[in-house]
Amino acid sequence: MIDSRDVRKLNAGTVFALACLTFPIDACSRADGSVGQLPAQKPAAELAPGPAAPPPHRLTPAAQVGKLLFFDKSLSASGQMSCATCHDPAHGYGPPNGLAVQLGGPKGTSPGLRATPSIRYKEFTPGYLDLLDNPDGFSLPAPGGGLAWDGRANSLSEQAKAPLLSPFEMANANPADLVARLRASPSAPEFVRAFGAPALADVDLAFSKVQLALQSFQIEDPSFHPYNSKYDLYLYKKPGSELTAAEERGLKVFKDKETGNCQGCHLADASFDDGAPAQFTDFSFEAIGAPRNPEIPANRDHKYRDLGLCGPLRDDHARSPEYCGLFKTPTLRNVATRGAFFHNGVIHSLEQAVRFYNTRDTRPELWYPTAGGRAKTKPDPDFPRYGLVTAQYVGGTVQKYDDLPVANRKNLDKQLPLDGRAAGAKEPMTEQQMSDLLCFLQTLTDGDLPAAVPASGRCAN
Ligand code: HEC
Ligand code: HEC
Repeated sequence: MIDSRDVRKLNAGTVFALACLTFPIDACSRADGSVGQLPAQKPAAELAPGPAAPPPHRLTPAAQVGKLLFFDKSLSASGQMSCATCHDPAHGYGPPNGLAVQLGGPKGTSPGLRATPSIRYKEFTPGYLDLLDNPDGFSLPAPGGGLAWDGRANSLSEQAKAPLLSPFEMANANPADLVARLRASPSAPEFVRAFGAPALADVDLAFSKVQLALQSFQIEDPSFHPYNSKYDLYLYKKPGSELTAAEERGLKVFKDKETGNCQGCHLADASFDDGAPAQFTDFSFEAIGAPRNPEIPANRDHKYRDLGLCGPLRDDHARSPEYCGLFKTPTLRNVATRGAFFHNGVIHSLEQAVRFYNTRDTRPELWYPTAGGRAKTKPDPDFPRYGLVTAQYVGGTVQKYDDLPVANRKNLDKQLPLDGRAAGAKEPMTEQQMSDLLCFLQTLTDGDLPAAVPASGRCAN
């Protein structure tokens, strides 16, 4: 088996990105204008986790420009939107609200297609491969890596193109449009200082420098990878960082193959052989059958389906049904601060997400619509209210996996807790185990972010 070091060698961009960290910024654009892969092998010292105060850190000129650009609203067609509008530093670079999809575009009213992820902790994401070795060391190579829910961008610089040009995000019509805005923007003088006036004069060069600058900011600025959650403190045995009894039990559920088994995809241990701290993802793609979300306007068209790896936002696997319905396993760092979960934001609380894992199979009627039948005027007193469907039906057929065509359902992952057990069967987790698991997930919130839920008595013991 190839070890992870070799996998990174397969990502030709890695070496290039390392050169970017070491050499002057001009060494960092390739002839084709693209910029390097994420530096998976950043010097360990720079990424060393734990609460020690980070060493004094000066951003390179490229990253300093990137910081200006990241917050510069004048780079959008509406003049109202920057990267930070959706990736808000006060929310761990995640969205500032619980909307399933954010609004953008020329008037700030065009809804997107997918939930906005946090962009903290992207520095170890490998480039996308159909056969990526799994960092757990034993799973067979499978689709993994890349940025966005479908892995279609191989580096942060490549990714930055999408929001700048997307008609429902910053909505520049083309690179020339963006560069015209850049020339008139408050960021222009700093851009010229870093890259020279000729770079601003040439559209292709300027656009690639914008991409490079945004990537450099996200890689270099410590605010993108603080590793200062309670769980990090606990892992590195810092004083006063013991988990409470409930959090400890929750961690057990997280790792336990017979109950939560979250560890099956969201790795909680330091991974690789290069000192990467726990990433809470193995970068793999899985189909877990998230329900269709009627809050997304695009879903009003019954023919529209977001099938992740097989499209429509990427088209290289459009003819490969075995890729349909697979989405990237996201990190769970800061997950307790989110208000929309899964690629389509269909779930709106962390508790609801955990309950979805627990009862997708045993009580599918709580998660997927029922066709036919009759809704009781008043549900029975013991009918659960935590699901997406709160009406209790008599008769009718539950439309399980309503966002995945029947032909693609064989792609569904079979691991616990989503092992496809029968409706009415025993649930993988008990109420106590779910409660403990939620306590544990709250320890993944970074130290600079307000805890989503005040530390309740429930998590104390
Ligand atoms: C209107 C909201 C919005 C704006 C503005 C926006 N993004 Fe995003 N961002 C998203 C969404 C939605 C996704 C997921 C896209 C997908 O999966 O197709 C995303 C994904 C990303 C990712 C990949 C994260 C991951 O987990 O793989 C990065 C990196 C990123 N954005 C950076 C940026 C940068 C840099 C800018 C500014 C140039 C920006 N974004 C502007 C909404 C936004
Ligand atoms: C088979 C792999 C796998 C297992 C096991 C697994 N997950 Fe996930 N998880 C995923 C994937 C893939 C997604 C994204 C799915 C989507 O958006 O369609 C996800 C998404 C999530 C999200 C939403 C995060 C966000 O930013 O939107 C949460 C919360 C979550 N998982 C928690 C858990 C917990 C808790 C467990 C254990 C009870 C668990 N997962 C087990 C693969 C897995």
